[in-house]
Amino acid sequence: MRLQTSAGLLPLISLTTALTETPFLGFPSPWISPDPSDAEWQAAYEKAAAFVSQLTLTEKVNLTTGTGWEGDRCIGKTGSVPRLGFEGFCLMDGPLGVRYVDKASAFPAGMNAAATFSKRLIRARGEAMGEEFRGKGVDVQLGPVAGALGRTPQGGRNWEGFSPDPYLTGVAIAETIRGIQSRGVIACAKHYILNEQEHFRGSVDVRIGDKTMHELYLWPFADAVRAGVGSVMCSYNRVNGTYACENEWVQNYLLKSELGFRGFVMSDWGAQHSTLGSALSGLDMAMPGDMMGPPSASSPPYGSHWGGALTQAVLKGEVPQWRLDDMVTRIMTSFFRVHVGSYTSRPEPNFSAWTRNTTGPQYKYSNRPWTTVNSHVDVQANHSALIRELAAKSTVILKNTGILPLSKSSLTSLAVIGNDAHDNPNGPNSCPERACINGTVAMGYGSGTTDFPYLISPATALLGLSQEHNITFFNTTSNWDLTTAQSTASNASVAIVFATATSGENFVSIDGNAGDRNNLTLWDNGDALIRAVAAVNPNTIVVLHTSGPVVIDHADKHPNISAILWAGFPGQESGNGLADVLFGDVHPQGRSPFTWGKDLESYGVELLTVAPDPRSPRQEFPEGVFIDYRWFLSEGKGERGRVTYGFGHGLGYTEFEYGDLVVERVGGRGGYEVNKGKTIPAPVMGEVVDIGDVEGWTEPDGFEGWRIPRYVYPWVNATVYNSENGTARSPGIGDFPPEARDGGVQEELPAGGKEGGNEGLYEVLFEVKVDVKNAGTREGVEVVQLVSCLVCFFCCDPVRLMMNSTSHPTTLSPPLSSSAALTTSSSPPTPPKPSPSPSPVVTLASGTPKPRTGRFSPSISRPSLSGRARWI
Ligand SMILES: *[C@@H]1O[C@H](CO)[C@@H](O)[C@H](O)[C@H]1NC(C)=O
Ligand SMILES: *[C@@H]1O[C@H](CO)[C@@H](O)[C@H](O)[C@H]1NC(C)=O
Ligand SMILES: *[C@@H]1O[C@H](CO)[C@@H](O)[C@H](O)[C@H]1NC(C)=O
Ligand SMILES: *[C@@H]1O[C@H](CO)[C@@H](O)[C@H](O)[C@H]1NC(C)=O
Ligand SMILES: *[C@@H]1O[C@H](CO)[C@@H](O)[C@H](O)[C@H]1NC(C)=O
Ligand SMILES: *[C@@H]1O[C@H](CO)[C@@H](O)[C@H](O)[C@H]1NC(C)=O
Ligand SMILES: *[C@@H]1O[C@H](CO)[C@@H](O)[C@H](O)[C@H]1NC(C)=O
Ligand SMILES: *[C@@H]1O[C@H](CO)[C@@H](O)[C@H](O)[C@H]1NC(C)=O
Ligand SMILES: *[C@@H]1O[C@H](CO)[C@@H](O)[C@H](O)[C@H]1NC(C)=O
Ligand SMILES: *[C@@H]1O[C@H](CO)[C@@H](O)[C@H](O)[C@H]1NC(C)=O
Repeated sequence: MRLQTSAGLLPLISLTTALTETPFLGFPSPWISPDPSDAEWQAAYEKAAAFVSQLTLTEKVNLTTGTGWEGDRCIGKTGSVPRLGFEGFCLMDGPLGVRYVDKASAFPAGMNAAATFSKRLIRARGEAMGEEFRGKGVDVQLGPVAGALGRTPQGGRNWEGFSPDPYLTGVAIAETIRGIQSRGVIACAKHYILNEQEHFRGSVDVRIGDKTMHELYLWPFADAVRAGVGSVMCSYNRVNGTYACENEWVQNYLLKSELGFRGFVMSDWGAQHSTLGSALSGLDMAMPGDMMGPPSASSPPYGSHWGGALTQAVLKGEVPQWRLDDMVTRIMTSFFRVHVGSYTSRPEPNFSAWTRNTTGPQYKYSNRPWTTVNSHVDVQANHSALIRELAAKSTVILKNTGILPLSKSSLTSLAVIGNDAHDNPNGPNSCPERACINGTVAMGYGSGTTDFPYLISPATALLGLSQEHNITFFNTTSNWDLTTAQSTASNASVAIVFATATSGENFVSIDGNAGDRNNLTLWDNGDALIRAVAAVNPNTIVVLHTSGPVVIDHADKHPNISAILWAGFPGQESGNGLADVLFGDVHPQGRSPFTWGKDLESYGVELLTVAPDPRSPRQEFPEGVFIDYRWFLSEGKGERGRVTYGFGHGLGYTEFEYGDLVVERVGGRGGYEVNKGKTIPAPVMGEVVDIGDVEGWTEPDGFEGWRIPRYVYPWVNATVYNSENGTARSPGIGDFPPEARDGGVQEELPAGGKEGGNEGLYEVLFEVKVDVKNAGTREGVEVVQLVSCLVCFFCCDPVRLMMNSTSHPTTLSPPLSSSAALTTSSSPPTPPKPSPSPSPVVTLASGTPKPRTGRFSPSISRPSLSGRARWI
């Protein structure tokens, strides 16, 4: 294999060259094409094709490449097409609201959305976020997240996503996308794929087989594609030797061909490593476009892997024109698909991500032109009500010996104890990237955060309530002054003690936790504080604000601890949402979206924190599909003894009885139809690249005075062009066979055919009905779940099936009874998937049935791509 390195490549990149790479298979990057069977898509595609056909080579390249880190006012911004009045795309973090702006909401984290088990609430959260991004003039919201999925409980960014259960994450990501995009904002499913930890995220090489890929990590992305997601962000890590953003297996083969993804792939910030490798392997947009720092001697010749370098590669035929045209058509189709109205009427960004000042330079690095950079547009509307509802309904009651709900009329005194209950004395945004635990924690840290417009701490909410209802209120903030904590707690009839454990992204750290958590215990002396309070007050309630499970068995067993609640990262209405549940104003419906093991070891997965050679650490994911509850339930191990609270656990204030379970086969008799078909030849849009049109691809005369420092432009530099050094092949990819540039008719993959993959994967096979009765004395909400074990020789794949409750947790009053149906499905071929929403048949379900004897195990025609992970 020939590795071509270029003088311009960063030394870092050459050093991280993979030791053994996946050979480049030469699968050409799939192009999107008309689809008259889908009128909405077809209309968007036609508008996009008409638009792209008018563009020149450099205008096309402009839309594929960011103008550089902090080059514009958005976190990511592409070049524009001034000739047609088309402003470049504005991209903004993150998955729980608009980052780096004021007057926008701080929503609950993804894991909290999942904990509601409510499609309605998850959709509403997406809609509200979409409205806020739109209101700020943002084109692309950089979320939601399905990677990290949550392989390890310490995973730094797990909370940004939903749940380690791929089925729940799939439902949640799809509803979030539908919500965001319904408001005219392109959603971005990220981080694709296997970005499961923060340690070594920029170099780790995850080696993974076909089964684990399809049934676990790819699964929710299939749901995202099926929901019509407009963009996908490729991740920092490598997969089978090759960086995700230059990886034809994950981008060309799995995402764009098997899953039939018709939107665009953008790089995570700085995750692109080459010009040709990324272009031929399916990347469509380079972010932030430059090398995320001032140009240096080691930067590539254009200060970018794309921009002028991509123009040059197209001129030289190294990247075929159809590939560039496909990139831009994908970008513009996603735009027209979600954008209501004409492209010229869309609001421009009305903020700067880099300053809160009202006026400042439009372009930071040129310090000009001086203008209004922040209009401080308030986009919060009435979203606080939804945020409060989400906070309350995502709170999981893990333990309750009967103390809850508290009574406003009979409770006489209350003690609120711990730093995590109180306001940060310097304000909720005083720590950059939320990287501290001073005061109550309501989101993790890193780029998945926002500024809080305000943050209602539990102490504030509970003090207000106490004053209103004549409850005597005691409180103390220190987690370390256990004497004061005990004297405060012993004053009150009920003591609520708060504790936290947080995590985030690796560019910031707290107490040596560089993103991933170093352990699974509580932070800031939390366990000692809980023990101290429980020692003196028999009515102790524990409230946890954590980024995932913590080791809490001691509190579960403690006789004086009457209740334990997990409130996750609830966002700006934290205290109000919690109080609503504590006092029974909201029926608790939160269910744990992950398993609470008794210790870290019991999870059976290892976070890689030490590597012999940090430039090329490698991971094999030996547990295969068995993460979280699948691990605890898998063959012969059992949850008993190793789990404090299971996945899906959560108590309410009443009791339900189940009866009359009926399982009915409703489909799957017709067999599975393999997708056959051929693509059209790759379309070339507009004028064919003319290598003689030098004026067309070099900087216009007189532009020099307008040039913005550090900005990435699409024009070719004649010196670089003639030196032949302008384009770089990806280290670790090797040569590109002719097939990689073949724009001729291609066979479609048997597993493909539709957005989300073959329709057969979504057929509902069984319907399960059960009667659910409220047998208690209060109204309550039930989230019905079904765990099934698909038995095979010597093994059992635990499968968690959820029912209609996924769409609408049902409120039941005693003594009325209500029945609900749940629909589940089972194999073969690959795990069937839910029918799309809205659907007459209600819910679905699934988990990971074993692929049967290769009849259609994710339909891979290339032998090198098939393979099964070992059974545990
Ligand atoms: C590319 O975008 C930049 C930034 O918006 C703009 O200055 C430049 O004129 C554009 N180039 C072309 C060829 O339109
Ligand atoms: C990736 O690596 C795994 C484990 O080594 C192997 O089973 C699988 O076939 C590889 N996939 C590709 C596409 O190379
Ligand atoms: C904001 O304005 C202040 C006062 O004019 C100035 O000192 C500061 O540098 C500005 N900040 C930014 C990021 O432009
Ligand atoms: C925030 O908490 C840290 C310890 O976690 C402490 O060192 C620091 O002084 C606190 N900062 C403020 C502003 O209170
Ligand atoms: C609170 O106590 C005061 C005085 O003891 C009494 O007037 C008031 O009605 C009480 N309020 C409530 C809500 O019980
Ligand atoms: C008690 O809580 C209130 C409301 O948050 C706060 O203002 C006060 O400082 C707290 N007191 C102590 C001793 O922590
Ligand atoms: C776990 O990590 C937290 C945060 O760094 C720390 O406060 C705590 O002491 C650690 N626990 C143990 C048992 O080391
Ligand atoms: C073109 O590239 C050469 C060599 O890297 C550089 O010296 C020159 O400044 C560039 N010209 C322009 C207009 O950017
Ligand atoms: C191009 O590469 C050659 C060696 O491959 C090197 O000598 C030359 O300096 C490079 N030119 C530029 C402009 O980078
Ligand atoms: C499932 O829930 C939906 C929404 O509440 C309802 O319309 C439908 O009738 C339910 N299906 C069954 C079979 O109960």
